[in-house]
Amino acid sequence: MTILDSCMGTHVLVFPYPAQGHLIPTLDLTHQLATSGLTITILVTPKNLPLLNPILSKHPSIQTLILPFPSHNLIPPGAENAKDLPPNYTPIIAQALCQLYEPLLDWFKSHPSPPRIIISDILLGWTQTLACQLNIRNIVFSPSGAMALSVIYTLWTNLPKKDINDQVLLSSIPNCPTIRWENISSMYRNYIKKDDSLSKVWMDLFLGDMASWGLIFNSFSEMERVYLDHLKRQLGHDRVWAVGPLLPCNDKDTGACRPAERGGASSVSVEGVTTWLDKCKDHSVVYICFGSQAVLRNSQIAEIASGLEKSGVHFIWCVKEPTAAQGSGGSYGRIPSGFENRVAGRGLVIRGWVPQVVTLGHRAIGAFLTHCGWNSVLEGVVAGVPMLAWPMTADQFSDAFLLVNVLNVGITVCEGADTVPNSAELAKVFVKSVSENLVERTRAKQLSKAALDAIKDEGSSAKDFDCLVHHLVQTKL
Ligand code: UDX
Repeated sequence: MTILDSCMGTHVLVFPYPAQGHLIPTLDLTHQLATSGLTITILVTPKNLPLLNPILSKHPSIQTLILPFPSHNLIPPGAENAKDLPPNYTPIIAQALCQLYEPLLDWFKSHPSPPRIIISDILLGWTQTLACQLNIRNIVFSPSGAMALSVIYTLWTNLPKKDINDQVLLSSIPNCPTIRWENISSMYRNYIKKDDSLSKVWMDLFLGDMASWGLIFNSFSEMERVYLDHLKRQLGHDRVWAVGPLLPCNDKDTGACRPAERGGASSVSVEGVTTWLDKCKDHSVVYICFGSQAVLRNSQIAEIASGLEKSGVHFIWCVKEPTAAQGSGGSYGRIPSGFENRVAGRGLVIRGWVPQVVTLGHRAIGAFLTHCGWNSVLEGVVAGVPMLAWPMTADQFSDAFLLVNVLNVGITVCEGADTVPNSAELAKVFVKSVSENLVERTRAKQLSKAALDAIKDEGSSAKDFDCLVHHLVQTKL
């Protein structure tokens, strides 16, 4: 009997969180699960449905379950699409999604052969209660890394923390003895200090996650083994699978599940980007992109622009502009006038969506200035590109710590969403980052090889994925 045969009849419900940085890796995981022969239903909010077209055309057997994005008086109307979600709304949206509990329960009860397993995003911890009620299994998918989750786990499982020394708590995590309280996003620090309803939402979600039957990470053992082992010890079981990096290279056929245009419009085509890069020398271009949600202010954009001008380096800079649902975009910074003329020939400014994986994979990219969202981190690791870290929120601070202090593939340039970097300092880092013999580049190349080895047959992530599928198949019995 082949693995495909044994998977037949195992029905899994995949429930992504509807924000780009969560949806992208969840779809990549879904693609792998469907390739293994599992029967998949994926839950999607109405406006995210078009983002599923690539995976649905590759796997027509995947069923979609469209549940309405819940109304909530704090979420701007029209913000149901992954790329329209406003930044910093995570706990509010997570809270609103709990309203899907009853409709989902009804769906399970009326389905002729309902899923026996839910794989849900880490921000949907309430699915654990649903799974218990239905007497089925819930497995959590974390789009963040294991170190980041170790930090959050340590903080939230120690609530209420009125008289606990924060630094002592963090020092209990292996391999991050020097992580400072300030290295933790204020998004987490604020919510764990307060007794308000959103803090409670966070904690309930998180405790639900930790009670789940298992945890899937978009990570790989060679990069995060100590944190994966730490979590296994904390959870008291071994059902923690690191199956990453979940990237297009995982798709051994065509990579068709991740078309570059998936995330939205762009001022430059994929061909436009590669043609421009083709003219540049190896490792000579600094690539700048802050993920799908970060919004930079005028003062921050002005310093980056000035730093690029002073440095003289080649660069590609992705600048986000507000979507219709985000309104007039008062907080969005604009590129200073005349900048593009002054750097003509050595800089490409892209408004909208960059084909990031393609860009990072080009031989001309020498460094990546990133907000350290976990997907960007993994994409940078796979590309073997040293990273210039500017963490802004959420898990990004511990991701940056991992890159710079543990893995030695990154250089810190700035910290915090409100911090305005200094253009002269930036210019120095840009120049250094494309220099020959950069230690971080050598290390990044080694880590890239480890990442690609992990997802080959017999690699650590391939083995963890097979083990996961084995568990899923057994669950139907
Ligand atoms: C969020 C959080 O910020 C992150 O910390 C968390 O781990 C996952 O969710 P986001 O801020 O969007 O994600 O950053 P990131 O994790 O880097 O994900 C962005 C994804 O969109 C990446 O896969 C990136 O390749 C893609 N992207 C983004 C593009 O392809 N083009 C763009 O222009 C912007």
